Amino acid sequence: MCPEAEFAKRRFLLETELDYRAIVASSADLVLVNAARSTVSIDSTAGRSAKAADPVVAARTRTAIANNIKVLGDSLDVIRQGDEFDFDSLQPAAASLVDSVTEAPAVLLQMTRLKSKDQGTFVHSIAVAGLMARLGAATGMDADAIQLLATAGLLHDLGKLFIPDAILKKQGELTDAERKVIRTHPQIGYDILKRYPGVPQMVLDICRLHHEALDGSGYPLGLSGDEISQIVRLSTVCDVFDALTTVRPYKRAWTREQAIHWMFDRGHLFDRKLVLSLGRLLDAME
Ligand SMILES: [Fe+2]
Repeated sequence: MCPEAEFAKRRFLLETELDYRAIVASSADLVLVNAARSTVSIDSTAGRSAKAADPVVAARTRTAIANNIKVLGDSLDVIRQGDEFDFDSLQPAAASLVDSVTEAPAVLLQMTRLKSKDQGTFVHSIAVAGLMARLGAATGMDADAIQLLATAGLLHDLGKLFIPDAILKKQGELTDAERKVIRTHPQIGYDILKRYPGVPQMVLDICRLHHEALDGSGYPLGLSGDEISQIVRLSTVCDVFDALTTVRPYKRAWTREQAIHWMFDRGHLFDRKLVLSLGRLLDAME
């Protein structure tokens, strides 16, 4: 994304070390290099932790994540049945998830890639919560805010519990009418969460607004630009990334790079700085 005043094109093949240095020295705020296509060796590993998880830590993380899935499933069942739901009951699962993704992030990524259709919403929520916690940490949030962010991630798709399975788990592409039904889930989730006391505004906002887009083309409110907070933008980036990299009955999962590049190319929809931060963070996870 180079400034046109300094480069003839915004996108071009990086062929020489000199071009690379020129970009670094330019006024560009953001630069995305596809290392697979570039013929210049860029030290993309700089700053990576590149530390494989210890097998004991990995096993402990798998158990913790499996437990998170169960706790989340139980909480969502309570909500689905209209019973009393205590928001704080999810905090230990969120705290354990934050620990897991901090200790062994690669394990979380591996597990989320294996999600089955039935577990779809739960595992998607765990993955999004984990990504949100990491991205929140990368953007300098404190421990309390990160834990709350993880809890918001766990609950963000709550409204999907009320979408008929025939639509939610449909094999094949959705019709316009079915897509319209799916698009009701953020508002449904928000309306339900609002009934319970003690649910922080950040959690309500993420539940309701995670499908908004910067150009106003999102839903349910069609907010745009500054009307969409950083926290909500962060949730959107993590949510879309996980959706793109998930196998669907009708499409193959995209690779991490494909998903990040696709989102970066859609700066009218997603916050590019957050997309880049997520890309960097994922590089460091594997
Ligand atoms: Fe959603």
